[in-house]
Amino acid sequence: MSGQPLRVERVGVEADATLRNLYEHYVHDMSEWFGLDVRADGSFGYDTAPLWRSEHAVFLARVGDRLAGFAVVGSAEKWLGDAGVRDVKDLFVLRRYRRRRVGDALAVHLWNAFPGPWLVRVLAANAPALSFWRAAVGRYTGGRHDERAARDGGRDWIRLRFDSSAVTR
Ligand SMILES: CC(C)(COP(=O)(O)OP(=O)(O)OC[C@H]1O[C@@H](n2cnc3c(N)ncnc32)[C@H](O)[C@@H]1OP(=O)(O)O)[C@@H](O)C(=O)NCCC(=O)NCCS
Repeated sequence: MSGQPLRVERVGVEADATLRNLYEHYVHDMSEWFGLDVRADGSFGYDTAPLWRSEHAVFLARVGDRLAGFAVVGSAEKWLGDAGVRDVKDLFVLRRYRRRRVGDALAVHLWNAFPGPWLVRVLAANAPALSFWRAAVGRYTGGRHDERAARDGGRDWIRLRFDSSAVTR
């Protein structure tokens, strides 16, 4: 990443209004792959409340003092039946900051913040995100990760797994 430094900050419920605004953009991007419609008022209205009630970790990313994206970490229990594995629930970079390695640096921040086993799930149809995750995970692990296809909720997913405590930093 060139230019201003990326700052990643873990935030609490006081940042909820900001997170909800960012989710509007994220869900709009994801609506292409999940076939989501806006509500009658034109918003997606993603409900962030459960994120603050459960064991999620929410991060905002800034380039200099400008918001550039966010990420939410959760548990992979729902997907793997193992609560000891962390899951990148959502990760988003605002469009003007894309292809500058902001997403890569944000992902690395999450994996370093929580050393241990990780799951990254990506919808097989979401080709840009799949390229991104393969590149980011591959670079981070030096190619020492597991990749397999899975069918969940009637959709095809790609699951990437690795242990960030085994990565030399
Ligand atoms: C996917 C996303 C997070 C990538 O963020 P980003 O900051 O632009 O990604 P980076 O600059 O760190 O990309 C790192 C590498 O990933 C790959 N990559 C990233 N975006 C890509 C794209 N649109 N198409 C193909 N490869 C891509 C490239 O190899 C890239 O390296 P390069 O730019 O040197 O070629 C961003 O596009 C986004 O927020 N998309 C919408 C939300 C989304 O799909 N999130 C993931 C949900 S699973």
